[in-house]
Amino acid sequence: MSAPPAAPRRVLAIETSCDETAASVVDDGRTVVSSVVSSQIDLHARYGGVVPELASRAHTELIVPVVTEALAGAGLGPDGRGKRPVDAVAATVGPGLVGALLVGISAAKSLAMAWEVPFVGVNHLEGHLYASLLEEPDLELPVVVLLVSGGHTLLVRMDAPGRYEVLGRTRDDAAGEAFDKVARFLGLGYPGGPAIDRTAVAGDPSSVRFPRALLEGSLDFSFSGLKTAVVNYVDSHPEVATEDVAASFQDAVVDVLVRKTLEAAARSRAKGICLAGGVAANSELRRRAAEAALGAGLGIFLPSRAMCTDNAAMIASAGYFRLVAGRTTAMDAGAEPGLGFAEPGSTRRA
Ligand code: KG4
Ligand code: ZN
Repeated sequence: MSAPPAAPRRVLAIETSCDETAASVVDDGRTVVSSVVSSQIDLHARYGGVVPELASRAHTELIVPVVTEALAGAGLGPDGRGKRPVDAVAATVGPGLVGALLVGISAAKSLAMAWEVPFVGVNHLEGHLYASLLEEPDLELPVVVLLVSGGHTLLVRMDAPGRYEVLGRTRDDAAGEAFDKVARFLGLGYPGGPAIDRTAVAGDPSSVRFPRALLEGSLDFSFSGLKTAVVNYVDSHPEVATEDVAASFQDAVVDVLVRKTLEAAARSRAKGICLAGGVAANSELRRRAAEAALGAGLGIFLPSRAMCTDNAAMIASAGYFRLVAGRTTAMDAGAEPGLGFAEPGSTRRA
């Protein structure tokens, strides 16, 4: 008689690195059982950006309801008494806002202690890489992932879960930061990325030829010069239509991102490319990346918009692969607000 199939390994993850309070239950790192995201966008909008103190307070208020809802969505009671509801509890340990991170880390450790299961600290950036794997479990590796978020712009080759190589990174502003700063300058509000995306639809992308910092020979990025070019152009052409500036700026960013991603895929002989992070929700980036990949005979995977922006399912997936590799985290590990991508030994091991 053959042995019954092994029960899936279930991870509860908590994400509170910035302005989303999120919790999710994922089986075997690939099947999302429940995922709850509570955004604080409205809370911060009137300040034009995330206010760290307000974010921490909101996480403290939202964490229990959000985790309870994620557990209920997975058919689990809030206390888990008398049973072992999950095999591990993961939380984002960095990078992010320290006060915000601490709320999620403390909650995750408390549950791990109560349930007597391991705690797994996850690097938020590593989490973003798993968005594609969650939605496309048969993704052919290696892939080059363009990770473009509010704080980071990275090109990473992913050979297998847990095996990566950073091929390029921004030397100054992150792509999302550039979108947010230019949107604020144009008076389009917060968050800036979606506002520029919407405004650009009515504009002509060829109306202003903004500079492309290609940094010949390198796969690194630089966006601060582009932001300055937008400011200088608008100051000297006050009559220009905001829609045209938004479309031309977006065109310049997307142009550089797509060219470098294709170059990275060619250099590292990747089978395909994936987008990750909040800026991967950008319509023009998605369209042009798909078009370019097709033209180059490469696979392309575009995660859903909800999976591009911050969520806890991606943290649960990254946490699962750490768990099965035996990389659980010590209970006295703290938040690591300045954590870089895949820093060796960055999260204190259990
Ligand atoms: O990954 P994410 O949700 O949070 C971080 O880890 O930073 O990314 C947030 C960033 C913000 O800069 C936001 O403006 C940008 O992603 N973003 C977009 C779009 N949606 C979100 N940028 C361009 N186009 C969009 N549609
Ligand atoms: Zn993020």
